[in-house]
This record gives sequence, C-alpha cells and structure tokens, in this order.
Amino acid sequence: MRRLRVGVLISGRGSNLQALIDAAADPGYPAEIAVVISNRADAAGLARAAAAGIPSHVVPENDRAAFAAAAQLVLADAGVELVALAGFMRLLHDEFVAAWRDRMVNIHPSLLPAFPGLNAQRQALAAGVKFSGCTVHFVRAEVDTGPIVAQAVVPVEDSDDEARLAARILAAEHRLYPLAVRLLAVGRLRIDGNRVLVSDSATPDFVALNPSD
Ligand code: GRF
Repeated sequence: MRRLRVGVLISGRGSNLQALIDAAADPGYPAEIAVVISNRADAAGLARAAAAGIPSHVVPENDRAAFAAAAQLVLADAGVELVALAGFMRLLHDEFVAAWRDRMVNIHPSLLPAFPGLNAQRQALAAGVKFSGCTVHFVRAEVDTGPIVAQAVVPVEDSDDEARLAARILAAEHRLYPLAVRLLAVGRLRIDGNRVLVSDSATPDFVALNPSD
C-alpha cells in the first residue's frame, strides 16, 4: 500500500502530532508522517518526532514570506503531499495557503464556525454553550475557516473550567485527526464549495441532550 506523505507543522506540545504518529505506527494506516516542522526550537513536539525516528526541522523565520519559502523547501525535499497543522501558532503567508489549497488541514478546539481564533475553550465557556468539540478543516486564507472535514462533539459540564474542558476536547482531537487524515488519504473526501462530502461514511444516529435529565 502506498502511504500518503504528511508534513506536520507544530509550535508546541505536539499531542496531536503524537496521535498521528501513533495512528501511522499501524502499517495499515494509509498515511505516514514524513517530516515535522516547528517554528519554535523549544517545541516539546520535536522530541516526539525524534522518538518516532521522524526527521524534523526548526524553521524560526518570523517573516511570513521567509517562513513559507523555508518551509516549502523542507516539504518538497520530504516529498510531502499533505500538510497537517497541529497546534501551529503562526499565521501563514497567503501564497503558502494557496499553494497547499485542498492539501492542507488544521485542527481547531471548537465546533467551527463557532469560536475561531485563540482561547476557543474559554470562548465556549463564556458563551455558555452546552456542547463544544473540535473541527478538522481544509485551510483557507482566513484564520480557522475552510471546508469542514470532520467534527467531534463533547458536552460542557457545569463544573468545567477552561482546563477541564480543554482536556475533554483534546481527547476528542486525538481521535478525530487520525480519522480525518485517513479519510483524506484513501480519497474518500470531495470538496463541494464549503462542504466536504465523505463517500461511504457512517454518520452517527443520535440526539444528545445536555442536560439529559
Ligand atoms: C490543540 O488544541 C489544537 O486544536 C490547537 O492547538 C492545540 C495543540 O495541541 N490548534 P498539541 O500541540 O497538538 O498538543
């Protein structure tokens, strides 16, 4: 089986990178992590890449165009076919976004289009929503926009603070990102305007009430 070559961009902890590394450890998984790029030398995710024997590069350029140029070289050199942003905290140059159009995805800790930008979990608590979750989407020039590939929903509990809600969402992220990349890698996604249609998909048949009693 030919595996899709994925380049993962990180800035920090790298727990979503780890989820992708763990998924790709299964030889039956249709994607492999070819290279990791971090814009920060102190990103903990770099050690995760090293532990998995995945080459990594620190591309610290602050200027967007300079970062894009340097990152493109690394991605091309590694034969990357899909870019996965995983806690990558820098804005990307428009030309970089255009170059990877429909071949770059991001994971965000809210049910987009609600709560884009920073501190999505804090935004959800402030808005008083009873459910939140996470979203994997194709990347477009506007931050946290783009056709939605997949979402996971978690309840918001009365006792939640930002950290508790973030932890619940993060556990969902670690399931959702490998699923979304798998669907993409096997060619089951078709972008139709703002929608991503998933062939042969099993959609859950449920209504979740919160509170449920
Ligand atoms: C995640 O919550 C992700 O949704 C957001 O940044 C966080 C990154 O966490 N974009 P990690 O570095 O993958 O642990």
